[in-house]
Amino acid sequence: MSSRRRLAWTLLAALVAFLAWRMVRPLHIFEVADRFALPIEVATLPAPLEGLSAEGCATCHPAIYAEWRSTVHHQAWDEPYYQVDRHFDGDQQVCLNCHTPFAAQQRKRVLGFRDRARWDPILAPNPDFDPALQHEGVTCLVCHLDQTDSGALLGPYGEVDAPHPTRRLADPNQVCFRCHVVDNRRWDTRLRIPPCGTVAEIRAAGGPVDCVSCHMPEVARPAAEGGPVRAGHRHIWRGGHDPATVRAALKVALTEVARPSSGERAFTLTLTNTGAAHALPTGTPDRHLTAAFRLLDDTGRVVREQTHRLRRTILWRPFIVDLWDTRLLRHQPRTYTFRFPDGGPGAPATLVVIVRYHLLDEKRRARIGYENKKPIAYDLFRRRIALQRQ
Ligand code: HEC
Ligand code: HEC
Ligand code: HEC
Ligand code: HEC
Ligand code: HEC
Repeated sequence: MSSRRRLAWTLLAALVAFLAWRMVRPLHIFEVADRFALPIEVATLPAPLEGLSAEGCATCHPAIYAEWRSTVHHQAWDEPYYQVDRHFDGDQQVCLNCHTPFAAQQRKRVLGFRDRARWDPILAPNPDFDPALQHEGVTCLVCHLDQTDSGALLGPYGEVDAPHPTRRLADPNQVCFRCHVVDNRRWDTRLRIPPCGTVAEIRAAGGPVDCVSCHMPEVARPAAEGGPVRAGHRHIWRGGHDPATVRAALKVALTEVARPSSGERAFTLTLTNTGAAHALPTGTPDRHLTAAFRLLDDTGRVVREQTHRLRRTILWRPFIVDLWDTRLLRHQPRTYTFRFPDGGPGAPATLVVIVRYHLLDEKRRARIGYENKKPIAYDLFRRRIALQRQ
């Protein structure tokens, strides 16, 4: 073998080894930012607060407490998909810093990191671990405790007569960014928008980044039991887990094309995101929609099907690259057309059109071994059209 060919073979072998390593190495889909690199330590709490639990707020703020109990924030630890996914991902500590962010919600303490990227924490048992608090997930004080000083409670008003110190929250949306913004700007990553791109999606659409206006709708009521009625905010944060919220944000129009080519019939389905400032769906790239046309014969058998997927498709290995994104951007209608032969023997009897929301796809569910009790997908729209002409 000539030395040139030997060199070529060595380079090729090195490249193959490099790519093979890229296919099996631990995959980190986001950067660990300062904001959430560490759990939140709380040294002292202002009187009369006695602990970090939401139970301590419930007596005086019962309406807000009841709403929060109904949300995925409260479920951020118990949510079974999260539990299975985190375990599948190797039980990484960093997940806890958003799903159960207080140090007292975590079984282990973080003493430091072995690596610069902060994926490899040095852990020790945590004597202050409080299992009941862990089940509260994203609890009240995660959002409301001012961590920069005496520990006043941040709120929209500032000057109120409360038994605990309060301080005005300049921009309530700042609260959301700790957990709802993650970046990934590594040399080996080519993403047009970050892995969870909610905020970037709103910026791209040119809108104001005002999460609270949609996710915490205004309500006039006392902020605390017995207090004056004020302009307050419902603590409901509905999103992909709530079919009614998603349905209300999606405009669906199904119409028959008046003059298709001869011997054909055709229907168009137009989907418009009228209610979400970010993409529909947003959040983790697991979330997606499907839009399906199905022709059935007179026995109900599917004779023809056309399915469109509205999702973010990312190549994870060997490099992280955005391939395509077919989700609905705000106010940008998307039209799908379905054509089929008209009449004749054995002609289809029914057209069924279904639009569904998927929290994750069936392949991933099976791969991570998530034995869901609740369905992982639901209908947003379903219509049956009898095709026989009178
Ligand atoms: C003993 C009763 C009591 C307890 C316990 C209590 N609060 Fe309050 N809180 C109040 C009252 C009263 C107000 C003022 C309401 C008003 O004037 O409308 C208030 C106001 C607030 C405000 C608004 C502050 C502002 O300036 O905008 C926030 C936020 C708040 N409480 C959060 C909490 C949280 C979180 C807890 C639990 C850790 C808690 N509170 C526990 C009575 C209480
Ligand atoms: C401490 C971290 C944290 C903060 C702060 C936070 N969130 Fe979340 N949020 C989460 C996590 C974790 C979930 C997912 C919980 C789950 O599904 O298990 C979530 C879920 C949601 C959802 C999805 C609901 C659904 O049906 O899937 C919405 C909407 C949301 N948050 C809005 C907000 C808004 C608005 C703010 C700011 C006011 C905010 N969040 C602040 C961590 C946070
Ligand atoms: C995910 C973050 C988050 C969590 C969790 C949360 N809040 Fe809030 N809360 C906010 C934000 C943001 C505002 C201010 C909204 C605004 O001004 O636009 C607010 C407002 C308030 C107010 C002022 C009155 C009102 O309706 O605006 C009170 C009181 C309050 N929260 C208490 C609580 C209590 C009690 C809990 C737990 C049971 C809780 N919050 C959980 C983010 C949160
Ligand atoms: C104009 C209203 C509007 C604004 C503004 C808005 N959202 Fe939403 N959001 C929605 C609607 C409607 C949905 C349900 C449809 C969907 O998933 O896109 C939703 C869904 C979500 C979800 C659910 C994703 C999941 O995994 O289930 C999250 C998280 C979320 N929004 C976070 C945010 C954050 C953070 C902001 C601010 C940066 C924000 N939203 C601003 C209307 C809005
Ligand atoms: C920077 C904060 C943050 C970190 C770190 C984080 N998450 Fe989340 N996670 C969120 C938020 C916010 C949501 C909800 C909004 C969305 O869909 O993006 C969420 C949603 C999820 C969901 C969907 C849950 C459901 O109810 O369907 C799973 C699963 C999940 N996270 C797993 C993980 C795992 C595993 C890790 C660690 C490798 C992790 N998360 C780390 C903030 C975080």
